Amino acid sequence: MEIRETIEHLLQHLQADLNGVVDSQTLEALRHRLLGRKGELSTLMRVLGKIPPEERPAVGQMINDAREKAAGMLDTLAMQIALRERVEALAQETIDVTQPLRTRPLGSLHPISLVLDEMLDVFTGMGFEVVEGPEVEYDRYSFELLNLPKNHPARDAQDTFYIEENIVLRPHTSPVQARVMLEREPPIRIVCPGRVYRADEFDATHSPVFHQLEGLMVDEDVTMGDLKGTLDTFARRVYGPDITTRFRPSYFPFTEPSAEVDLTCVHCRGEGCRACKGTGWIEVLGAGMVNPKVLALCGIDSRRYSGFAFGMGLDRIALLRYGVQDLRQMFEGDMRFLTQFR
Ligand code: PHE
Repeated sequence: MEIRETIEHLLQHLQADLNGVVDSQTLEALRHRLLGRKGELSTLMRVLGKIPPEERPAVGQMINDAREKAAGMLDTLAMQIALRERVEALAQETIDVTQPLRTRPLGSLHPISLVLDEMLDVFTGMGFEVVEGPEVEYDRYSFELLNLPKNHPARDAQDTFYIEENIVLRPHTSPVQARVMLEREPPIRIVCPGRVYRADEFDATHSPVFHQLEGLMVDEDVTMGDLKGTLDTFARRVYGPDITTRFRPSYFPFTEPSAEVDLTCVHCRGEGCRACKGTGWIEVLGAGMVNPKVLALCGIDSRRYSGFAFGMGLDRIALLRYGVQDLRQMFEGDMRFLTQFR
């Protein structure tokens, strides 16, 4: 009789056990506890031998019924759980198309790139082609072909970084112009932007690396008037119709005659202010007529052709344009500084 009670007891508890099942894992644990090889219902069969033979068929039948009932209830619940788990999994994998995107910070152009882009626009608009060249350059292109022979005193003024005896970090972008003159026949109309290097201090107004934009035009009958017209047009297009240029005599070995070129102060428009130290002018360019010697060194017939050249520091122009006081900020890569120029 004991065994019947055990079975009944097990079946009574089955519903409570099933209610405690939360997922397929706990369900399988319960199945194992009841119907596994050593499960509570399975082991009942082993006690059959201990009961009187005439009762065995009835009790055996009872155990089997109980096992089937338990198995049925477990299977039903298993199906319900599997269904629920699938619905939950699908809900979790749903893509919410209304959710806002995770935003990434937008990059911005460096102020020197902004200034350069604007200038290249103007010069290409006047028919100049943009040409670039190597930053590690031969002495020959950097100096020799530009009328700066080895013993020339103006070489000291360049404070050049030497890699080897005949290889330098270019101290200006003029070697690109020498390369183009050697390779091409006039007419030549090019602008050469790029990084240049000089053994300078790193302070508010100097840096051992900075940027230049140089230009060259070589053709028949090119005059100083063409140079002036080109630079005036550049000044007006970039800074406004009231901005003009002023030429002052100067010296460069590669140009003759040479000039320092001032721009009307873009802050006070010529009135005189702190930026221009009260003069109304700001010095931004070196320029001149290409020295016939340089033309000849670069394989151009200087009796037939003439040319003008100019060069300017982009960093200084960017400082002026954005009212930045310290040149070092252009090179330090501080995001708080750089993101202002969107
Ligand atoms: N190459 C000169 C410099 O680096 C600039 C310049 C270019 C001057 C062309 C005159 C003509 O300073």
